[in-house]
Amino acid sequence: MFISKIFLVLFALLFSSALAAPLLVGSALRSPARIERSLDDPQLSTRGFAHIVQAARIAGQIKRKVRPTPGKAVFWTGRIPHPNKSHDPVSVQGSTEKWAKAKGKEVLEPTLKMHGIHIPSQDHNPYAPKLWNIASQVYAQRASGHVHAIVGTELRDGNTYQKIEKPELMNNNKVTKITEHNAATGGTTVVK
Ligand SMILES: *[C@@H]1O[C@H](CO)[C@@H](O)[C@H](O)[C@H]1NC(C)=O
Repeated sequence: MFISKIFLVLFALLFSSALAAPLLVGSALRSPARIERSLDDPQLSTRGFAHIVQAARIAGQIKRKVRPTPGKAVFWTGRIPHPNKSHDPVSVQGSTEKWAKAKGKEVLEPTLKMHGIHIPSQDHNPYAPKLWNIASQVYAQRASGHVHAIVGTELRDGNTYQKIEKPELMNNNKVTKITEHNAATGGTTVVK
């Protein structure tokens, strides 16, 4: 059931930002002639449409293929300080993927790659952040059993784990346990 909801949300988001917004610019609502001219703009509308089609195709691949093996999903968020203080903090993504692989577990990004699903950069498709949100939501909604999350010590406000994945996992009746691992200390906290 959530799949059709995701598609509704996707298309609402895609069409509201890509099509509706430009049409509402200025006095377009009161002036139908302006609407036609903006739709006739060949570069903008062709590229915008190509982005929507690409995003919808990728969302469909995510919906069809992304499904963690029961009891194997691992989530991650944030960064930890680099051992060499003169370097920037490092994302915990790499260490999460290594840990998951060693434990026979799974992480979203390698799962997408395994299925040949490529989410473009935001430079190449403005809907990329929405596609990442969809992928994260699908992954959390389809997770089950004991789920792990590797959490850095420096978290971005509104990070995907805290904003999307964790609430989905807490709501997901098939998820029996969530263990969060502090990526800097290795300490664990059972949060569900
Ligand atoms: C830390 O990083 C700096 C900048 O890359 C480098 O010059 C320095 O040698 C590094 N120190 C250690 C202990 O690795």
